Amino acid sequence: MVQAVLFEIEDNVAVLTIKSPPVNALSHAVRSGIVDGLDRALGDDDVKAVVLIGGGRTFPAGADIREFGHPVQDPWLPEVCNRLEMASKPVVAAVHGTALGGGFEVVLAAHYRIADKDARFGLPEVTLGILPGAGGTQRAPRLAGAKFALDMMLTGRPVPVTAPGAKVFFDAVVDGDLRKEAVAFAQNLISEGKGPRRTRDQRIGFEDPHAYQNEVTNRYRMVARQQEYAPEQIIRCVEAAALLPFDQGLAFERSSFQDCLETSQSAALRHAFFAERRAGKFPELKTGQARELNTIGVIGAGGLAASVAVICLQEGWHVVAATTTVRAAEHAASEISKLLGGAVMRKHMTQTEADEALARFTTASDLVALSEADMILDCTIRPPSAKRDVFTQLDAIAKEGAVLVDAGAHSKVNLLAQATGAPGDVVALHLYAPLRVSKVAEIVLGGNTSEDTVATVISFLRKLDKFPVRAKNEQIGPRILAAYRLAADYIVEAGGTPYLVDQAMRGFGMNLGPYQALDYEGFEASLSAQGSACRASHQPDFVGRLQAAGRNGARSGKGFYLYEGKPASVQQDPEVIELIRAYREENGIDPRGFSEDAIRYRCLAAMANEGARLLREGVARRPSDIDTVMIHAFGFPRWQGGPMKAADNAGLLHMKVELERFAREEPKFWTPDRIFDHLAKNGKVFDDLNTQ
Ligand code: 3HC
Repeated sequence: MVQAVLFEIEDNVAVLTIKSPPVNALSHAVRSGIVDGLDRALGDDDVKAVVLIGGGRTFPAGADIREFGHPVQDPWLPEVCNRLEMASKPVVAAVHGTALGGGFEVVLAAHYRIADKDARFGLPEVTLGILPGAGGTQRAPRLAGAKFALDMMLTGRPVPVTAPGAKVFFDAVVDGDLRKEAVAFAQNLISEGKGPRRTRDQRIGFEDPHAYQNEVTNRYRMVARQQEYAPEQIIRCVEAAALLPFDQGLAFERSSFQDCLETSQSAALRHAFFAERRAGKFPELKTGQARELNTIGVIGAGGLAASVAVICLQEGWHVVAATTTVRAAEHAASEISKLLGGAVMRKHMTQTEADEALARFTTASDLVALSEADMILDCTIRPPSAKRDVFTQLDAIAKEGAVLVDAGAHSKVNLLAQATGAPGDVVALHLYAPLRVSKVAEIVLGGNTSEDTVATVISFLRKLDKFPVRAKNEQIGPRILAAYRLAADYIVEAGGTPYLVDQAMRGFGMNLGPYQALDYEGFEASLSAQGSACRASHQPDFVGRLQAAGRNGARSGKGFYLYEGKPASVQQDPEVIELIRAYREENGIDPRGFSEDAIRYRCLAAMANEGARLLREGVARRPSDIDTVMIHAFGFPRWQGGPMKAADNAGLLHMKVELERFAREEPKFWTPDRIFDHLAKNGKVFDDLNTQ
């Protein structure tokens, strides 16, 4: 059996190397290996110091998340950390890659710490709905003060070891052979007669609990995690670090960790973590090879084309932006240089990087300029027949093997593929705004898309740091969004107000309710995009009434809300209520009331039902892929896990019965997909369909 922790002795130093790829997660085997190695080192009179280092690409990136929810096997991670800290010989942690969560807690428990200059560290447990549970909440504030420690724990962001404030954790940051440096560091300790230096013996910086409390409260306000359970518990644990003796603080942390772990929020957040990674697995790719990408062609002069060009330039590719007129080409060039300028201003890149990016950029008023591109993204939105013409032209222009991508994302991939002589090279891509921020993109495959094409697009997206999600023939996100909005419209038509719907959905955890989101998108743009994405025998059309009354969304100053002043204050408007009331009256609708819970339930059931249809139609591969899209593309609260996970939590049998009840009002839209029946009868949930 391969050992998870390798024990070697170099002169008087025991080197424990963790070997558990890919990220050296602190599984049972690793924890046991560390404890065994430590015992061996402490029991060997020739060993005077211990170095703990990660093999492969990183120091442990945390506890093994897959073990959560199962009985913990001894030794627990907190115990491992305590044993390291209480060791009678100096222990040096040598950090490279990403020392995260439990991995960083091991670092904090070591007596001395050195790091590779490119290493990063952090306590991202909050992103999994838990808190550092192996002493992190007690040790990090002791070394860095509550403010810095809370920042790390509440944001979950990894910190470069070279960042300001990070040096309190490390005795040395090195550039070179980390293991060699660590052993030399340990030998120095031995020769200087330095023994263990325990973090538990340090005092926390806050003497006055009231000042501390204020500090914490101010921190907390900065965190956009108001509805989550873990942040509050993290604050309490840091408070305990300030007020209680170390061991009592640890006990407090342990029980808070357990509380967090048992919440449905944590289960949902862990689901989201694995969902993102599962989405990028394309089991059908057996022999697919990603083609090399040097030059990316971008067609279009609009915002999408400019953003695509800029993120490609930022990744170091050459970019040719082609349009069909000189004016459009000039416009595209000016947009792209504006965006690069903005990126410099926001410190996303340096001026030198922007200059280098511009040097890799060319613009043209003729598609012929794309002849050398390895991948061409058509970012225009045009009628299907015009799109087909573009793809026929590209087929003649593009070099052999170039991947042709429809990134305007409203046409059927198969029709575009048929317009070319190389249908295997054609694919569609649904990128979500804001492009720099959104972490997800849908790869929409046609019937003939080749494995190499898919592999190329996956590697393109990975480089852009996006989770690729596979969709077949059409996109996932717009269908779920359309179902959500239609459910909301039915509620408003039947008697709810848009304001109540928005409030209910914000209460569910959405950043914006559906109507405020519609306002920001602008009615025209979003209604034309929504089109007939959803099946229904009847679509409420009160939005049309609002448009007729001169309301088109936030940019026009009024939509469902009034936007007045600069910066605009968002206000409810009685005129909207009146317009909707008149609409109901004309349609003979007797209004009825909805509770916020009822609104949330209907919206969720509509999304899950549409998700079930997408699964049955083969558009989406897994329920968790739908969750990933909705979390990253439409702000579905991550701590609810995505619509399919949230439906599992709500109970599928109950949801099916409720959908049948709603279907008496609008059968085509609400009738539950037969997957509900199938799962409920077999005692299963959507999560059971999340196969690799
Ligand atoms: N436990 C189990 N598996 C893990 C893991 C973990 N902590 N971290 C990553 N993995 C797995 C991933 O699921 C993936 O598996 P797969 O290949 O089967 O899909 C594989 O390792 C590689 O991960 P990524 O694809 O994410 O690789 P990247 O290079 O893109 O990113 C990373 C590496 C930055 C380390 C990223 O994986 C990450 O952020 N991991 C989670 C870190 C984390 O949250 N740590 C805290 C854990 S909770 C904890 O420690 C509790 C403690 O306080 C008691």
